[in-house]
Amino acid sequence: MENLHVWNGVPSLTESKLLLEDGGKLNPGPWVEHSMYAGKAAEIIAGNCPSLNSDIAYILGILHDIGRRFGVTSMRHSIDGYNFLIQKGYYMPAKICITHSFPYNNVNAVFGKWDCNDDEYKFVESFLSKIEFDDYDKLIQLCDALAFPEGFCLIEKRMIDVALRHGLNEYIVRKWKSTFKIQGYFEDIMGKSLYSILPGVIENTFNIRKKHS
Ligand SMILES: [Fe+2]
Repeated sequence: MENLHVWNGVPSLTESKLLLEDGGKLNPGPWVEHSMYAGKAAEIIAGNCPSLNSDIAYILGILHDIGRRFGVTSMRHSIDGYNFLIQKGYYMPAKICITHSFPYNNVNAVFGKWDCNDDEYKFVESFLSKIEFDDYDKLIQLCDALAFPEGFCLIEKRMIDVALRHGLNEYIVRKWKSTFKIQGYFEDIMGKSLYSILPGVIENTFNIRKKHS
């Protein structure tokens, strides 16, 4: 793997899959399959972007919701995931645990609630104010927005699905616009539509079941 020194803060793919599998045993739920598809999408998109490493992208996608291993929570999952991975020395995926929820960089631009204490909330607010999103942050923000537990789907469908489950607030339209901007950013780099490289989007978006003969 090139630039190995850059990737010191990232576990191996085997370890990442084991962490997700363990997480699924602790807190079973659709987040496990969603994480796998987010990872797969990240791998595929990164494979079409010359400056990105698809192995790293896959790992970051797999681990972005790992905070859900601690139970059914709302935005607390981002802090839990960050703390869990930082303790292991995995800075890069730890950062993604927080940044993946913020295509629009504002601590209030969230679905659900900040079910954490004041210090934790202030930590996330300050963390977001100090960092710049790199292409991996943007990539996982995008992949989180197109991965259903059943597979890849149209971003607009996932947005409505999340909105129906969690409701909306005044920041969400800006958040959606930021997500589409990120989609355009990667499509410009790839020179093609996102949906032309992700298999199963039509079936998953329109609930078309495969017929078995
Ligand atoms: Fe996610």
